[in-house]
Amino acid sequence: MNAAIRAVTRIAHSKNLDVLGFERGWEGLLTNSFRRLTPRNVGGIIQLGGTILHTSRCPEFKTEDGLEKAARTLSENCVNGLVVIGGDGSFRGALELSSKTNALIVGIPATIDNDIYGTDETIGFDTAVNTAVSEIDKIRDTAISHERVFIVEVMGRKRGFLAVTVGLTVGAEIILIPENKCRTEQVIEVLKENAKKGKKAGIIVAAEGCGKVSEIAQEIEEKTGSEVRLTILGYVQRGGSPTARSRLLANLFSEKAVDLLLQNHGNLAVGLQNGEITSLPFKNVCRKVKPLDSSLLNLANMLST
Ligand code: F6P
Repeated sequence: MNAAIRAVTRIAHSKNLDVLGFERGWEGLLTNSFRRLTPRNVGGIIQLGGTILHTSRCPEFKTEDGLEKAARTLSENCVNGLVVIGGDGSFRGALELSSKTNALIVGIPATIDNDIYGTDETIGFDTAVNTAVSEIDKIRDTAISHERVFIVEVMGRKRGFLAVTVGLTVGAEIILIPENKCRTEQVIEVLKENAKKGKKAGIIVAAEGCGKVSEIAQEIEEKTGSEVRLTILGYVQRGGSPTARSRLLANLFSEKAVDLLLQNHGNLAVGLQNGEITSLPFKNVCRKVKPLDSSLLNLANMLST
């Protein structure tokens, strides 16, 4: 997100626009708290995880009063264009706010979950994938030397995009995602088949949306008699220095976002589609469910023999 804050600020300034950064996301619009962003004071942040503006969950924003207050803040500060950097919750907020304000609003998709319709990738996804991969590579050392099965839970909220990409790139024996009903019997079947082939170690990558992985681990132990260890990767996936790919995407999305505002276009979320930087109405992005390419799971299965 910092890479996007820096890019939006510098691109907007190059077009002679002033930039205000609202603190803690929507909360800053409710409390009228912002800082003036300049090309100089966004220096040295491209390599930092998180956001210098801080962020928060803000239930009050979703109320009628909250939306009115946010719209007032925008008009009192003469804001003509608002760039919202966030996930689908932020975009739903942007859609609601757009009916209360004359300011044009554009969205930059940023979430490690990569679950936003209309974009092949979101800012932060590649960073989270790489973090998870490097952690799981370390876990595999114990899995192999101790001939153990590990379940590693990755984030992703209700979707399995992170789990599939991570599973495929760590060479997971099994990938569990909420989009497919997770059947422990099938997992046990695969583990038994693997053991027969002499493959006693295994990594199961499970998306957090699959439910309680500890129960899956327990059932496998009970039914196979083998040890299963559990690692929940957790918040390490949400931090750290962004990868080059995440930074590049932040720069390209920011350029498109400022361009759209300058052309008087609002109510749009930018995205990446087949290598092109595009934009789609918030309405579509918020209402549609991003499909998960199940052929990646088939590929992972083929590769895990
Ligand atoms: O949406 C990003 C995400 O990291 C999800 O993967 C995770 O389920 C959630 O946020 C965690 O949210 P919180 O910070 O509120 O615990």
